Amino acid sequence: MIEWGISAAAHDAALTVVDGDKILFASHAERYSGIKNDKHLNEDLINAALKFGKPEKIHWYEKHKLRAMRRLLSGQGLIRFSVRQYLADFGLKDIPVEFASHHESHAAAGFYTSRFDTATALVIDAIGEFDTASVWLCDGEKMKKKWSMDYPKSLGLFYSAITDRVELKPNEDEYILMGMAAYGDSNKYYWQMRELYEKENLHRGCRWWLSGNTDYYDFAAAAQKIYEEEFDKLLHRAKKSDPTQDNLVLSGGCALNCSANHIAKKYFKNIWIIPNPGDAGSSLGAIAANNRRRLDWRGPYLGENIDTEYPVEKLLTSLLEDGIVGVASGRAEFGPRAFGNRSLLADPTRPDIKDRVNVIKRRQKFRPFAPVILEQYASEYFDMPVEVSPYMQFTARCKFPTRFPAIIHVDGTSRVQTINEEQHPGLFELLTKWYEETGCPMLLNTSLNIKGFPMVNDEKDAEMFQGMYNVKVY
Ligand SMILES: [Fe+2]
Repeated sequence: MIEWGISAAAHDAALTVVDGDKILFASHAERYSGIKNDKHLNEDLINAALKFGKPEKIHWYEKHKLRAMRRLLSGQGLIRFSVRQYLADFGLKDIPVEFASHHESHAAAGFYTSRFDTATALVIDAIGEFDTASVWLCDGEKMKKKWSMDYPKSLGLFYSAITDRVELKPNEDEYILMGMAAYGDSNKYYWQMRELYEKENLHRGCRWWLSGNTDYYDFAAAAQKIYEEEFDKLLHRAKKSDPTQDNLVLSGGCALNCSANHIAKKYFKNIWIIPNPGDAGSSLGAIAANNRRRLDWRGPYLGENIDTEYPVEKLLTSLLEDGIVGVASGRAEFGPRAFGNRSLLADPTRPDIKDRVNVIKRRQKFRPFAPVILEQYASEYFDMPVEVSPYMQFTARCKFPTRFPAIIHVDGTSRVQTINEEQHPGLFELLTKWYEETGCPMLLNTSLNIKGFPMVNDEKDAEMFQGMYNVKVY
């Protein structure tokens, strides 16, 4: 039976298609509309999903009435929104709709794509219907909520409010704040910011806080420090819920804080984070929460297909000649990061590469790029907090930072992606050949997009990218 999961009308709309335990398609509205984090569905996305068959059931992410009630109670006003009308406007009439709650969907997205039979799930985000953090005990078909933190107290809202305070875009640029943290003094504003976190409702930001002060790097450093301290407390709470449990599923938008995720190893042996742990990933999570059945997770390559064989030789030649190349081949990644199908790849040893990639992507100069490394060499080059890190979810200290200037952050760490043959045979072959030619087992890997725009989706986008910059895209 074809079922759809939809996360829409909040931010970063997404759609997942499953048939039984098979995930047939998953993508974001932004990839089809060209509007970054587009909150609404669009016809092109719907048509792409319809290629896999008409849905017999739709799972809608969020108990919409509960959310409306919370908005009303928190003074955000009344929203008039009918899910059925919204779907009807896209021609999706007369299809049964089942609703799934926000945090339950986050937890289910993680647990039912993991390889764990049992696990503790910790969900942390800005806000669900009312929950802002929750702990779930998961066992087969059962998922039981053990604890939750309620609005307005929220670690996610706090991090987004500071993102807004330093003039970045909340709900989008939190990862930039995380990158800025390494440049600041985390103690300078620590106590003032702690007070802000403890006492204020930060749902509408805190632009008024220390108004006029522009020590943004110090703000970022204090925010990251507080985040890590609070994250540690939440992990402790999750462990206490079932002290015998070694498996952790981490979910919610805050699971993208890769600088903090290593702390989970203090409490749990095994950690699984779906590469799309935020609200868009809950288009899949809504299906999982309602069906309580394992989904056959084979990787994040679930979006639009560019039907070409992975161009290993062309990529290798360009990398050896020019040091930088784009790739748009196979199915697009579901989630905010590119893992080799919509990637800009580059030689991490060349000193000029970081600036060249920054110019192409119009990014702030301070921001680090991530490496993709052959899995078998990861611990030789990095102090890995986990054995494998296929989705860039953990930072690791590089043992030879001066040799790889393009992928080292100012604090000496990198957000590592490990790769093996099963994950992506083409990218694995490319890395293997690159290693044979150069003795370097890694490449810089960043998403094929420019700042403020979504990732390249189809052939047309790829051609446009190639035309705009002097970089080959295969
Ligand atoms: Fe969420």
